[in-house]
Amino acid sequence: MWPKQKRLALWFLLLASAAALAATFTATARADGINKSAVGELFWATAKQEDDLLRKAAADESAIAGNDEGKKNDNNDGDHDLEFDGGFSSLDSMLQWAIGHSDPMKMKETAQDVQRLSPNELKKRQLEIKELMEKLRTPSDAKLMQIAIDDLKNSSLPLEDRHRALLELLILVEPIDNANDLGKLGGLAVVVQELDNPDSEIRATAAWVLGKASQNNPAVQNQILGLGTLAKLVKMVRSSSLEEATKALYAVSALIRSNTGGQELFYAETGSLMLQDIMSNPSIDVRLRRKSASLVADLAGYQLEITNKAEHPFFSNHFFLKSVVDLTASTDLDLQEKALMAIKNLLQLQTPEALVFKDICGLDEALERMRKQLEQLMVGEDQTDYARDLESLRKEVEWIFLRKLEKAQSST
Ligand SMILES: *[C@@H]1O[C@H](CO)[C@@H](O)[C@H](O)[C@H]1NC(C)=O
Ligand SMILES: *[C@@H]1O[C@H](CO)[C@@H](O)[C@H](O)[C@H]1NC(C)=O
Repeated sequence: MWPKQKRLALWFLLLASAAALAATFTATARADGINKSAVGELFWATAKQEDDLLRKAAADESAIAGNDEGKKNDNNDGDHDLEFDGGFSSLDSMLQWAIGHSDPMKMKETAQDVQRLSPNELKKRQLEIKELMEKLRTPSDAKLMQIAIDDLKNSSLPLEDRHRALLELLILVEPIDNANDLGKLGGLAVVVQELDNPDSEIRATAAWVLGKASQNNPAVQNQILGLGTLAKLVKMVRSSSLEEATKALYAVSALIRSNTGGQELFYAETGSLMLQDIMSNPSIDVRLRRKSASLVADLAGYQLEITNKAEHPFFSNHFFLKSVVDLTASTDLDLQEKALMAIKNLLQLQTPEALVFKDICGLDEALERMRKQLEQLMVGEDQTDYARDLESLRKEVEWIFLRKLEKAQSST
């Protein structure tokens, strides 16, 4: 073991190095606009507390180095950028770096400086260093999620930090393993709780996180559904805040996609009526209408896959079917495309009748109107490829429709 004084001196030097490291990391990350990784970004998002400590350290350091720029200028040997780049993977590597870059003269001065500190000040400094090192180590995603979850559990956390914690989770839950961990860490319940937050932006972000976490993940879907979340989300879709409504609908779609139990809950919560209301109201934002049409396409598509299950009566409701077909009259091509995909799947179901599509929904006229519109777009300069793709989808729908009509006529 080193003598106590020397050890303290090294600690002190490490604090200075850590400050320089952090400063450089920020500078490079900002200058070259690189998002080093979710971790790097989160590191800075959570760095608020460190700021004071770092500023203090930088001041101490300047005093030692005898210049205002701090330690950074002393390391102009050209290779430190590389070492700075990824941060340090362990305390050891940081120690190595600190030793490798230390100037014996300065170390001596530092040691003298440290000697002037009172035992209390030294103790405090040690604690600060420990805390800083803990934070500078590249934490695992699980650790980062735990931090965000703990933040959300803190009832006195300011709104802004609460929002930040949710945004961190949003990035972290993207990999499927992390999404699975979120439940294990107790994070799902905490995020679900935020759906009751009085702040609409917080509610929207919480819904976004839940949607992201449950995407293509039946286990997480079921955990979230088990928390009784769907009813709340369906209600949120009717929010007057577009952001909240959009994120809630995103979450609903992700939660029930290819999930039989989830879809049963959705119908029980009159989710189908909600979709119909959105689709049949042209004054509702087009993003919500597109998402609704997509969800209809999805639900009908899933019903086509699980042939052993009776089709939901919703699929043969005339008002509902008409609201889907009417979307094709929109000026928004994206919405038209999503409507066509929904119609294509609906036509292939058993219960919706061909004659309903023809006589009540006016599908033949709708398809003809689209054909003319797309024909014009295909000779134009813009959107030619998109119009061509859309036309081939339209043709496919028309073909399926005509076959369904023929089948209906031959069976009567
Ligand atoms: C980095 O991330 C931020 C926020 O997530 C974003 O605004 C920015 O465009 C990203 N920069 C790059 C280069 O991807
Ligand atoms: C809760 O948040 C407040 C405000 O940010 C903070 O002062 C306090 O230390 C936090 N409590 C816990 C237990 O983390």
